[in-house]
Amino acid sequence: MDNFRFYDLQPKISNFPDEVLAGLSKQQKQIPPKFFYDEYGSKIFDQICELEEYYPTRTEFGILQQHSSDIADEIGENSLIIEYGSGSSKKIGFLLDSLIKPLIYMPIDISRQHMLSASKTIADKYPNLKVLAVYADYTTEMLLPEYAISSVQKKVIFFPGTTIGNLEPEEAIQLLKRSATIVGSGGGMLIGFDMKKDPQILHAAYNDSKGVTAAFNMNLLTRINRELDADFNLNSFNHYALFNVKKGRIEMHLVSLEDQIISVADRKFKFIEGESIHTENSYKFSMEEIKKMSEECGFKLVKVWSDNNNYFSICYLSVV
Ligand code: AVI
Repeated sequence: MDNFRFYDLQPKISNFPDEVLAGLSKQQKQIPPKFFYDEYGSKIFDQICELEEYYPTRTEFGILQQHSSDIADEIGENSLIIEYGSGSSKKIGFLLDSLIKPLIYMPIDISRQHMLSASKTIADKYPNLKVLAVYADYTTEMLLPEYAISSVQKKVIFFPGTTIGNLEPEEAIQLLKRSATIVGSGGGMLIGFDMKKDPQILHAAYNDSKGVTAAFNMNLLTRINRELDADFNLNSFNHYALFNVKKGRIEMHLVSLEDQIISVADRKFKFIEGESIHTENSYKFSMEEIKKMSEECGFKLVKVWSDNNNYFSICYLSVV
């Protein structure tokens, strides 16, 4: 395949045991959400995306589908599209079909196999497009293959899925600042944000009636039991998700239903009844917050596409 290249930037792989033990030792016990996505967790996440109550995925798809040619006009011709967390590259299709003579597609992901097979399929389907797949962690500083991309004037980062909401505000700012540097003057970023809305709708999205989100959250305990020889009893923990109005975020927790001591990799952790492990934040945004954050990072908010309910927004930010 002539139009396909693979770049291994040797991302630092997270140390699951160390991070779990450190997280469980904190005053407010916590485990980073990146650990949800083992093989089973990734499958459950796909099921979440199909749920009636979980509106973000289908809403973002709908916006992309409806406005793809308008979005393509905004990006312009002869572009280089970098996608953060491309995974199965499901959403980029809408763009690639609408963009005018895109030159390079650069998917970046930490899940090597997943990205490799998806990006090869894209290279097959679009023979006039160069596909440069990058195995890297886009949440850290990356040294992208400059010689491969410097010839293209218009660089645009595509960051769908409101994954930015799972970063802490300071991490989100750092990611946006690094992104502005990568695309440079005249470049842009097309990014999905889940908007602030009626807390009842948010509550339902993270407490679905089929219990899929609960299973996604509880799978962390199964994973720790399996990989770290722990003895969490899944019947003595509950999934709990609430919208923290002050912080503007959904918080997910695993709450202990009783006083208990859990062994994890030969360490003991005490839980009192009602005590929780904080497993995820999912920040929700207002347009003012998006505008302010973009400007702080060297971008200007140029255009917004939303659904009729304004549940979700895809924003085009341009480097000023
Ligand atoms: C991946 N991320 C944007 C999802 C979210 O909504 O924050 C993860 C998720 N957690 C529970 N449901 C979905």
